[in-house]
Amino acid sequence: MIVVTGVTGRLGRIVIEDLLTRVPVDRLVAVARNPGKAADLAERGVEVRRGDYDDRESLVDVFTGADRLLFVSSPDVTPGVRRRQHENVVDAAVRAAVGHIAYTSAIKAHEGPGFLEDHAVTEHLIRDAGLTYTFLRNTFYTEVFVNPPAVAAAVDSGELRAADGGKPLNTATIRDLGLAASAVLTGNGHEHTAYELRGPLWTFPELAETISAVAGKPVVYREIPLEETGEMAFVFELVRSGFFADPSEDLEKLLGRPAAGIREAVQEVLGR
Ligand SMILES: NC(=O)c1ccc[n+]([C@@H]2O[C@H](COP(=O)([O-])OP(=O)(O)OC[C@H]3O[C@@H](n4cnc5c(N)ncnc54)[C@H](OP(=O)(O)O)[C@@H]3O)[C@@H](O)[C@H]2O)c1
Repeated sequence: MIVVTGVTGRLGRIVIEDLLTRVPVDRLVAVARNPGKAADLAERGVEVRRGDYDDRESLVDVFTGADRLLFVSSPDVTPGVRRRQHENVVDAAVRAAVGHIAYTSAIKAHEGPGFLEDHAVTEHLIRDAGLTYTFLRNTFYTEVFVNPPAVAAAVDSGELRAADGGKPLNTATIRDLGLAASAVLTGNGHEHTAYELRGPLWTFPELAETISAVAGKPVVYREIPLEETGEMAFVFELVRSGFFADPSEDLEKLLGRPAAGIREAVQEVLGR
């Protein structure tokens, strides 16, 4: 049986939809903290179990019978909360004798402290618990940069503004990261492996050219100071440091095809 958490979120939804095309429905369990949000899955025959990362005891029953478990990391970054939730999940996975756990970790999680420390700690917890694991070290989503408001602003103003410091990015689409997780859940030979899941490198000047080509309107790139990037300043600080500059072929290998690049992402946003 394959058990998937986070099915009401963006990544988990892609995973469960792909699994439904590969695996008999009676081999799938979808975990939601609010099962009402997964009612459509229940209607299609998927067993939906209520599971909350804050409720350790209930998670043991939720995970029971799982040959494979996709543990989608919590989005709650309130200091201390995610770590406690992840301890609950790992403890419950051990007590439920889960056969194999795939965990959505993050790019460079293993490099230790910093904003990704929760992921490093969770990887350690899973390893130390003796679980059979696969770490899906997801890079940032392409959608963080290529999304409807950002693309519309570039098309309308004729300028794509960012503080990239000339560094490339290895982002990947949520869809490809979800399909990679599904490939791990349905494939073999992924035990005790950490995958660095990254898309093809791209740059902001290339993104401006791509938006221009797809939209059919002139768009030029303009680098702006970090201070002018507002709530994206934290992300651009990472970009400028070269945090996203290293490529990896792991995503392409799991997908069995090249990962989607910025052209596909822009086409998706503009519906072309
Ligand atoms: N790589 C990236 O760029 C990036 C970006 C954002 C997030 N992330 C990380 O990757 C994870 C998956 O991404 P996503 O885009 O699918 O995030 P998302 O759309 O926010 O989905 C998060 C999922 O976690 C569930 N969840 C939240 N709190 C829970 C709890 N206490 N117990 C059980 N389930 C809970 C949510 O359920 P509800 O529907 O009930 O809220 C939802 O199904 C995120 O949670 C975050 O850790 C990565």
